Order: sequence, then C-alpha cells, then structure tokens
Amino acid sequence: MATLIIVSNRLPINVTKRANDLHFQRSVGGLATGLSSFRDSHHSQWIGWPGIATDKISEHQKQQISNKLKEQNCHSVFLSAKDIQNFYHGFCNKTIWPLFHYFPLYTMYEDRYWQAYKQVNKAFCDAVIKIAEPDDYIWVHDYQLMLLPELIRREQPNAQIGFFLHIPFPSFELFRLLPWRTSLLSGLLGADLIGFHTYDYVRHFLSSTARIVGTEHSMGSLTIGNRIVKADAFPMGIDYDRYSGAVEDQKVKKRLTTIRKKVGERKIIISIDRLDYTKGIVQRLEAFDLFLSQNPEYKEKVTLILVAVPSRTDVEDYMELRKQVEGLVSRINGEHGVIGWVPVWYLYRFLPFEGIAALYNAADVALVTPLRDGMNLIAKEFVATKTDGKGVLILSEMAGAASELGEAITVNAHNKQAIIDAIKEALEMPIEEQVERNRLMQKRLSRYTVTRWANDFLETLSDVKKTQQQLSVHKLTKPIREKLINEYEKSSKRLFLLDYDGTLVGFAGRPEKAGPDEGLFALLQSLAADSKNEVVIISGRDKATLNHWLGNLNASLIAEHGAWFKDRADVWRVIEPLRNDWKDTIRPILELYTDRTPGSSVEEKDFSLVWHFRRSDPELAYLRSQELKDAVLNLTANLDIGVFEGSKILEVKNIGISKGQAAELWLTKQKWDFILAAGDDYTDEDLFAVLPESAYSIRVGYGISKARFNLDSVYELRLLLEELVKK
Ligand code: G6P
Repeated sequence: MATLIIVSNRLPINVTKRANDLHFQRSVGGLATGLSSFRDSHHSQWIGWPGIATDKISEHQKQQISNKLKEQNCHSVFLSAKDIQNFYHGFCNKTIWPLFHYFPLYTMYEDRYWQAYKQVNKAFCDAVIKIAEPDDYIWVHDYQLMLLPELIRREQPNAQIGFFLHIPFPSFELFRLLPWRTSLLSGLLGADLIGFHTYDYVRHFLSSTARIVGTEHSMGSLTIGNRIVKADAFPMGIDYDRYSGAVEDQKVKKRLTTIRKKVGERKIIISIDRLDYTKGIVQRLEAFDLFLSQNPEYKEKVTLILVAVPSRTDVEDYMELRKQVEGLVSRINGEHGVIGWVPVWYLYRFLPFEGIAALYNAADVALVTPLRDGMNLIAKEFVATKTDGKGVLILSEMAGAASELGEAITVNAHNKQAIIDAIKEALEMPIEEQVERNRLMQKRLSRYTVTRWANDFLETLSDVKKTQQQLSVHKLTKPIREKLINEYEKSSKRLFLLDYDGTLVGFAGRPEKAGPDEGLFALLQSLAADSKNEVVIISGRDKATLNHWLGNLNASLIAEHGAWFKDRADVWRVIEPLRNDWKDTIRPILELYTDRTPGSSVEEKDFSLVWHFRRSDPELAYLRSQELKDAVLNLTANLDIGVFEGSKILEVKNIGISKGQAAELWLTKQKWDFILAAGDDYTDEDLFAVLPESAYSIRVGYGISKARFNLDSVYELRLLLEELVKK
C-alpha cells in the first residue's frame, strides 16, 4: 500500500528539555487533526523538526528523541541553534513571513538566511529520500519548505508530490521584491499539485509564474517540462464535531462555569491569536479603547478577554509587539477601568483545547481582525462551537476565512471606526439574527471539514498524476527509441523534417537571439552529411534568417511555414503565387498595438506579419492579443488571410499555406524507408497530419498532438539525433 509522507517544519510532537529531562508534547494543530483519520486508515509517516536545537541535547538524547518519535511514525530532522537562527528565525520568519503577509518594511533580505534555507530544505530532502518509495504520496507543507518539491523531484523524477501553502501567496508586486523569487517558484513547481487556501492566492501565484518563469496556465494547469502542474484552492476546514461537541465535555463545562461566575452579567468579547504583528492585535485594542470612549454606556458592561499565545519570541519584531500590546492593555485598563471592572483581561500563554473551547462558548462576540491571515481557523472554531446559534463573529476581510464566512460582520482591519461600529452592532444584534447567520456558516463548516480538505487535496493529487500518465503514454520510451534507432540503421533513404524554434533550440527573449549554437550546427552538419539522409528544416522563420543561420548546411530549408522553400543548393521558390498586398492594411494596426503594449514588436516576413509579445506583461499582452485578433479578423473577413495564435505570438498569414503542404513536396519525392519529423507547436500539427503512419513523429513537450510520440525537451531530441549521427 502506498504510504503518505507528510513533511512540515514542525512535527506534531514537540520536544522540550527541562532539567536535563526530555518532554514530549503532542500538538493539536489543525493539520495533525485533519490528517488523523487518514493516518489511521493509511500508512503514513511524518517528517519534521522536533522543536529543539541539537546544541541543547546530547548525542544520546538525540538518539532517544529519534527512537521515541519513530514509534509514532515520526522522523526527525534536527536543526542546530545556528540553523534555527538563520533558517527558522531568519529566512522563514524575517523574510518570507513578513513579505507574504504584506509587511515589506519588516522584511530582511540576507544572503546568510537564504543559504541556511537552502541547506535546511536539502536536509529535509535527504530525510524524505531515505524513506520514500516510488508510489508514495509526499505532501509538503508551508512556507518553510518551498524548495523541497523540486529537490525531491530531482532525486525521484516520478514521485507524487503535493505542496500546500498555509499562508497567503502575495501579489506579484510584493513577491517580485525577493532576490530569490525564481528559485522559490521553481522549488514549488517541482510539485504536481500546489494548494492554497483561497482563489486569490492561486491567482497571485499564477500571475507570478507567468511573469517570472514565463509559464502561462490554462485553467490553473501549467506545463512544466513533461509534467502538468496544477494550482488550486482548498480552504482548510476544522474538526467540526470536536468543536460543536465541546459543550458536552465535562472539562469544558467546568471552565465555562468558572468564567461565567467571574464575568457575571457582562458581555464577553474574545480575541485569541498567536502574538504576531499580522494579527492586528494593536489595532484591535485601539479600536476597543475608542469604542469605550464613544459608547460610555458600555462601561462595566463588557469585558474583552485577550489571549496572546507566545510565538517566535527570539525575533525582535515580536518582542517589540509584546511590549506594545502590554503597554496598551495597561493604558486602557488604567484609563477606563473602575474598582470591580477591568476592561481587558490579558492572558499571555498557550491555552489547551478545553480552555479555548470554554472561551468560545462563553463569548458573545469574537473579534478576529488580522491585518493579513492565510486562513484563520479561530473564526471557524468559534462559529462551530456555538451550538445554540448565539454569538457574533466580527471578521477581517483580510483573512482567508472571510471568503467562506460571508454571514459574519466583516471589517477592514485598518479601519478603526468600522471595528468600533461592528462591536456595537454585534453587541446589539437580535438573537434571531445571530442564530440565522451562525446556522448558515455552521452548515458550510460541517461539510468542508479538515478531513474533507485533506482527502480532497490528496484525491486531486492523484487525479493530476493520472492526467500526467495519460499524456506520458505517448512518451518515446526506451524500447521505442531502440526500435527507431534500429530502423534508422537498416534504412538507406531517410527523411528528416525538423522544426527549428522550440524543437532544435529553446525560446529566447528576442527571437533574433535564437541562432544555432555550435553543438547544434555540428549536429545538423553531420546529419546532413550522411548521403543516406535528406534533412529539411521546416520553420516559420523568414528565409533570410534561415539562410544566414543554416544556409551553409547540406540541408533543404522551408521558410514562413511553407510559403518558401529551397532544395539544398537550389534557389528559394514560392510554393504557389501568393498575395501580400494586405500587409499594408494590417501593418499599421499591429504597430498601433505595439505602441500600446510595452515589450512587444512586429516582425515582417514576405507573406506574413507577426506580433511578438514574449517580453510583455503577460496579462496585458493576452488582453491586447485578443483585441488585436478581433480587429484583424474584421478587416480580413473576405480575404484568404487568417490570424494564428502561437507561443507568445500572433501571426497573420495566408490561410492555405502550411508546413504540411510544403512537406508534401518532400514526402512525394521518393519512397522513403525512414521518416522522422519533430515539432513543438500548432504549426507543426499540419506537418504531423500529412505523414504516413510508419513515420516517427515527435512532439517536443506535452499537450494533445497528432504526433505519435512526445519527448520532454529540446535537449532530449538533440540527444536522440546525436545518437543517430553516431550510427
Ligand atoms: C503559521 C504557519 C505555520 C506555523 C505556525 C506557528 O500558522 O503557517 O507553518 O507552524 O504559524 O508558527 P511557528 O513559528 O511556531 O512554527
């Protein structure tokens, strides 16, 4: 049975040391809970950091930790104090965390942090490779391990890898600030499925991949080499039954009674978070302060219980925040409090489940106003706990949870007056309305629980894998490759029909920069030098460029997708009389669009005009290309002219002309006993369509094609041709 290997920075068990004794504490994080039923029914292993620095423990204790955790199917990746400093506090929590939460001013760009991030991701990779079998599912979690998918992929090219980001993925405008943005993206793209909490984060991720890596998506799917990579939204849920059943728990009941006794008839507002600057705790306190000033009738009638869970206490920004929060709490209590009434009850500690559940139950209002939050499960837990339907959630629109909890009172967490008004509205909301709103949210939360979330993600991962396998059915496998080589060796009349860009060379930012390198030139020269071979380069390029780059070869050339051809040393000929007077009408339109789209350019050939936009902003270029297509089609409706979309180009040319038509000239020339044709885009499909069944047609890259076989890359095709040349 396939094993699920979960990889996250922290293991679900945290190890601490007190007076030289090791303590093992189970954490009840959402992820651990979400996967628990899955973990019971499937084999699973968890890889992560046990939470303690190796410098603090002896070799023997390290062994002890490993052994004890292994009993629970957990594998430790140990970090030294220096790793913790540079990787965890550094790159994770001073670089990625602030930037991805829209705090660029808190973001530090330090090369030593980046070096540590790479090294720790590598250590995680080694741990995965040690236990992973080929058909296992590997599920990597969160921003601490963004390089891991690619690192694993390098070691195990066919592994099934999922990645889930638990924090926001920022807009391109922020992501682009990272000096290591390309490496991080290519790290993530090693996965088969990349999950986010909301569709906004998916959008931001896809826009960054388009702008930085240059890969466009189609309905969230990207083609990376020979793999389809999917990005999608999976809003993480909670263990609904646990929270909705909490009122029945004796321990919770006891705590609830204590709270009620202490607070009396006053209304309770709760605020529970890790003490983190993204949570908007300061702004929330300031709003509560103003609420009391603006609504003095609420004095002594309401208590704010503020729970701040200690977090990342070694990072300066967090130390600073603690001071600020504590200063504010004492100021508010000092200014508004009276004997017998303390407006803010402040707890700086971790609370166990019973404590939290009792607070949720006791509260009239939950104030959840992060400035940015990937999801925020507190909001969901609060709603789930309210079995009698009473209680009001005030939720920041900047939390991922806001897209699912539309019945909450939503606020802009930076707008203090909006928070003040929301508090008042919440305290005064009629019970029937509270119940109605909560019931709708509860229905939703009880359906998409954390278990559903985990299953949904893993099922989608398996579907992506299936799609990849369907595509790779056509892959030029080793046995087919051997057969091809064998037939080549036995034959004496061989025809090669080879496309140029994207097939023999990769794409360049500027098309004129994609000339043949020495290796390619030598390869084509040897191929064409064999008297048994006829080599035809069949390209969309203009004839002058082809002549300049490849004219010295003993090969034939076809230019402009078949409009021109040159049989070896012969002169260039037009395939049929063609008109090109339409160019004068179309050219000014293309030029107008070029002016309006920075980075784009017009290429003019004898019988076609091409609008290139590889170097333009992808979204703007897409929009403009659709407009341009419409404009040109309107003008050419009664001519024999068509508009074709290629790889970051729009080409206007005569409809009848195709690579297929030109290839026929060679196909009918004589009886070939070996034909190999290769191409990479839609113009090559016309070529594949006219080949006899016995021909080896190869599409470089993946996607639906008429070609019989696929190869991953230009590199692989060149390797194959090199092998033939040596025969
Ligand atoms: C967020 C992150 C998690 C992280 C948690 C606690 O929820 O997405 O990856 O584990 O905060 O932070 P810590 O720094 O204590 O691991």
